[in-house]
Amino acid sequence: MKSLKCFILLSTVTIMGLTGCNTDYTSNIGKQPFTNILNIPEILEPTIDENGVKHFALTMQEGTTEFFKGKQTKTWGINGSYLGPTIRVERGDQVAFDVTNNIGEPSTLHWHGMHLPAEMDGGPHQMIEAGSTWEPYWTINQPAATTWYHPHLHGKTALHVYRELAGMFIIVDEESKSLPSNYGVNDIPLIIQDKLFSEDGNLIEKTDIEPFGLMGNTILVNGTYDPYLEVKESQIRFRLLNGSNARAYHFGFDDGRTFQLVANDAGLLDSPIELDQMMLSPGERAEIVVSFEPGDETIFRSFKGENGIDQNEFELLKIVASDNLKETKEIPKILTKEQKSEVPTNAKVRTFELTMDSKINGKAMDMNRIDEVVHANTTEIWEITNRGWDHNFHIHDAAFRILDINGELPPIYERGRKDTVFIPSGSTVRIAVQFGENTNPSFPLMYHCHLLLHEDEGMMGQFVIVEPRTEDEVPKNLHNNEHNQHH
Ligand code: C2O
Ligand code: CU
Ligand code: CU
Repeated sequence: MKSLKCFILLSTVTIMGLTGCNTDYTSNIGKQPFTNILNIPEILEPTIDENGVKHFALTMQEGTTEFFKGKQTKTWGINGSYLGPTIRVERGDQVAFDVTNNIGEPSTLHWHGMHLPAEMDGGPHQMIEAGSTWEPYWTINQPAATTWYHPHLHGKTALHVYRELAGMFIIVDEESKSLPSNYGVNDIPLIIQDKLFSEDGNLIEKTDIEPFGLMGNTILVNGTYDPYLEVKESQIRFRLLNGSNARAYHFGFDDGRTFQLVANDAGLLDSPIELDQMMLSPGERAEIVVSFEPGDETIFRSFKGENGIDQNEFELLKIVASDNLKETKEIPKILTKEQKSEVPTNAKVRTFELTMDSKINGKAMDMNRIDEVVHANTTEIWEITNRGWDHNFHIHDAAFRILDINGELPPIYERGRKDTVFIPSGSTVRIAVQFGENTNPSFPLMYHCHLLLHEDEGMMGQFVIVEPRTEDEVPKNLHNNEHNQHH
């Protein structure tokens, strides 16, 4: 089965012709000269109004980017020609956005990993028409985390993200500040994306290659091809974001050095965990702290896995440490005192089946149908079984912990707060999901596979969060619901 999948992928990609950058698209190991300085997306400064609200302006726009010397690539970006600025806010901040769509067609902007009211979520129900501006606002009410933003329009998310509409959204709090926090110096974002380029340097936009979606031969880190980074301190926090459409990576270093995992998708771990490799599937994030000796040189890379979406290996980033390194203070042994929510013994259990035809429980996504109604401030157990290709599963607005995978504890690097989980073909994952206080019977939130082709094909469902005993306010058909139409 595995080799068949690989063959299908191989043949599709070969016919299209490959870029001049790598002729072997399954690996670039040993072939990267590391000639370009790693781009660090700049932090977007807010304007603060008299009520203390931080206002951010984001504009989705068309542009061209020189990823390869002398070649112009047509791209989309936010406040620039590709990717978007980093947003950094404190827990407790009130934030407000002006999101302007200048890409000439409708899109949306979703805050992945954010706990917020459903109508601010930026999913498929919050379309931003070409030429218009969307103005969501909310209060940051969750622990420190590395989250991100990207389009989420129904049916075209894969293409919009692939064209480079995405950025990092960092939440800091008192606990997270005990880790290296000097952005761009000892706190470095790494947005990992794979692409396919044609000879002339343009993106090959075959985002619908079955069975997983596009898996490219060329890796961009923060939009930089073939990047290197010089570090000047002894301990560096990297915020890893797998922003790829379908590819998963087992991250590690070519010299086998270990690193400390300090955070999963949705927040800090109780204590750091020492690892030499960890896997992230699309949409997942992790924060790691890496130690350097003066003059060190190492290559941050990915290793081969055993699933359909992680079979290839790549060199991602060369890191060179200066001869004089500033000593960073040791990272704390206890990272967070945030209480884990207990799973009540009578917790509601919901089951979800992911199938080969990109459906969930036999149904494809329907914008008008609400699939699940959840009570505010509860913890539920969601049991997700994958009966098809490799998938993962992401839930909006909520954070969860993995209870088990096929009845066993999850890998050591997946035991913290999360919002996206990899579900290998044939497995069942049980997660304890903590739902918050924001209710709205007529604005749904999404759960879906974060392999963007599958999401576009309809492997997505909708849930609303309501107060107990208000279920009758949930509309039978959202299309007929006036309240919903006006937003
Ligand atoms: Cu990152 Cu529903 O998305
Ligand atoms: Cu999301
Ligand atoms: Cu999937």
